[in-house]
Amino acid sequence: MSDAPILITGGAGFIGSHLVDALLGQGHAVRVLDNLSMGKRANLPLDNPRLGFIEGDVADARLVDQAVAGCAAVVHLAAVASVQASVDDPVSTHQSNFVGTLNVCEAMRLHGVKRVVYASSAAVYGNNGEGQAIDEDTPKAPLTPYAADKLASEHYLDFYRRQHGLEPAIFRFFNIFGPRQDPSSPYSGVISIFTQRAQQGLPIRVFGDGEQTRDFFYVGDLLALLIQALEMPQVVAGAVNVGWNQAVSLNQLLAEIGSLCGGLPAVDYRAARPGDIRHSRADNRRLQDCYRLPPATAMREGLRRLLNQG
Ligand code: NAD
Ligand code: UD1
Repeated sequence: MSDAPILITGGAGFIGSHLVDALLGQGHAVRVLDNLSMGKRANLPLDNPRLGFIEGDVADARLVDQAVAGCAAVVHLAAVASVQASVDDPVSTHQSNFVGTLNVCEAMRLHGVKRVVYASSAAVYGNNGEGQAIDEDTPKAPLTPYAADKLASEHYLDFYRRQHGLEPAIFRFFNIFGPRQDPSSPYSGVISIFTQRAQQGLPIRVFGDGEQTRDFFYVGDLLALLIQALEMPQVVAGAVNVGWNQAVSLNQLLAEIGSLCGGLPAVDYRAARPGDIRHSRADNRRLQDCYRLPPATAMREGLRRLLNQG
């Protein structure tokens, strides 16, 4: 184990802060770069001497350069995670979601840091799944600025791999859920919003008819994959889907939350969001071939842990 820290951009956020805990728990030193737009200081064990925290923006090339200097590897998670936010504000989200990636690549090249784990998204496939499980070779059809920025980031990582020897491990996450996913914005992940509103007895808004489906993946199950990608001697070539090949509709999700909470508040069906993907389900054969998958945390158990979080 190297004493050099692992840099986690977006490390104060939902997925990032769980990874910080896991890596610190294994004895690694960790450095976090986060602008706290969605992340929180409270998500980080700031009193741990092996954790360094830099508050700032991945769109700031000078700051990224400082953050990357001396690191053993990078996990690049910083981004505006909301698809809808990118539709509403493509210019500003592009700074975080694309320029940030380019800054990370360039700083890694300059400092000779090789390994980078990148959080791409199922959004790159658009509606090309047509209700079937989507494998990685499915033609890409980014429908939103968010998806276009993720796909462009993948291409730039591949350019830096070919040209400068970077070792990118690219994951296309489907829908990750669990404790610490911030429910406070209308742009937040659907499970975090629905569970919070169910607990508070506030009306729940469904955009569309609720029959759209997602492949939900519990955050605790993701950590082992991210850590393997950091540690494996050779990175897996190409992008790898992260999902369970299970489609859950929002209506099914609501029924499950209702049964755990002893009922649901009013559910209000609105117009579907523009650019919203109808069905999203991962073909995960490449994931199974290339990584050791932990046993799946069942949806109901993941929801229970989320509902019971402090
Ligand atoms: P999150 O919003 O909790 O985490 C993102 C973190 O990045 C936040 O702490 C935020 O403050 C920070 N950030 C945003 N813009 C920044 C900037 N310009 N500079 C520095 N920090 C910035 O979301 P998350 O769900 O933990 O997502 C982590 C990554 O995984 C993102 O790249 C997201 O696009 C990707 N992803 C998430 C999901 C999911 O279902 N949650 C699925 C696919 C991909
Ligand atoms: C999510 C992630 C995105 C990731 C993608 C990969 C977040 C915020 N978004 O996008 O980063 O790249 O998965 O698959 O983590 N909805 C409602 N009511 C609400 C909120 C949402 O009906 O109050 C609906 C949405 O219209 C959508 C579904 O729920 O149909 C899921 O929305 P959301 O959680 O925002 O996720 P994705 O858009 O799938």
